Amino acid sequence: MKNELIKIKENALKELSNIKNLDSFRNLEIKYLGRKGEISTILRGLSELNDEEKKTFGKEANIIKKKLTEDFNKKKESLSQSTNKYIDVTLPGTQIKKGHIHPITQIENELVEIFKSLGFSVLNGPELESDYYNFESLNIPKHHPARDMQDTFYVDIKNKENKYDLVMRTHTSPVQVRAMQQFGAPLKCVVPGRVFRSESTDAVHEHTFYQMEGLLIDKNINIPNMIAVMEELLRNIFKQEIETRIRPGYFPFVEPAIELDIRCTICKGAKCPACKHSGWLEILPAGMVHPNVLKHGGIDSNKYSGFAFGLGLTRLAMMKYGVDDIRLFQSGNLKFLEQF
Ligand code: DAH
Repeated sequence: MKNELIKIKENALKELSNIKNLDSFRNLEIKYLGRKGEISTILRGLSELNDEEKKTFGKEANIIKKKLTEDFNKKKESLSQSTNKYIDVTLPGTQIKKGHIHPITQIENELVEIFKSLGFSVLNGPELESDYYNFESLNIPKHHPARDMQDTFYVDIKNKENKYDLVMRTHTSPVQVRAMQQFGAPLKCVVPGRVFRSESTDAVHEHTFYQMEGLLIDKNINIPNMIAVMEELLRNIFKQEIETRIRPGYFPFVEPAIELDIRCTICKGAKCPACKHSGWLEILPAGMVHPNVLKHGGIDSNKYSGFAFGLGLTRLAMMKYGVDDIRLFQSGNLKFLEQF
């Protein structure tokens, strides 16, 4: 009889664990704990046993009955809770909102692919830069008027030598010298990145924006090489012939320096705020790397020459997508961003 009792208990618990709804629970409860259920039948059969057996099996049967009653009650409780909140599997689910890549990053990625296909490496450098790399190594000594070309955020933190000499980099050009020092010549690299200026903002000025520096150093590099690379680049970006013009420019780290402008893609040359009412956009300043800069980079300017350019990624995104206010890019305005 003891074996029989144990078997009933095991079967009951096993079946109970498979029960998923209240209807089948009720049937199971009747099967085991009901008046005519298996436990009651056993208890009723005790009367046929002798006193000694009645005592042992009676006790055993009651322990098992108690255990089963407890487990059944627990199950009943959990089933009645879960049946209150049923799920309608036919209802449409909540759509998970997918983000997407920011338009500036999209342009950056596209450019990186173009340059990689032309054999350029992709490098980066620190946003918190030393005065040396941001200015001095680029042929812009302290107190030189050329520093006024860039409104700078000087940073109130001392460097490792306990001096105040850190700035938020104003351009990606400092990575030119860092790259020369690290890799030497010949060298072909681009440096996409975020730069900072202490600007009052308007449709074409922001305190934080993006550039991509390009640098190519090798033997016998000349100005036509530079122009060819830049025009190839613009053709790839705009997927069409773009009207360009080249003007002389001035940047202390290149000599000669040029400004390559493109026809304003917003007003098509009719003059608008985005092109400062000139019909042209300054998009690609460039030049032949100044011998002093090569020297800071540890490269012999008698053996090597090169060109560098600084592409305004943010401005390029404005032109490519026809955005007439630079401030929209950093606004976090989803109505704007979701269009890309
Ligand atoms: N770093 C310059 C700026 O932000 C842009 C620039 C001009 C970069 C000429 C160059 C260059 O590499 O050759 O204003």
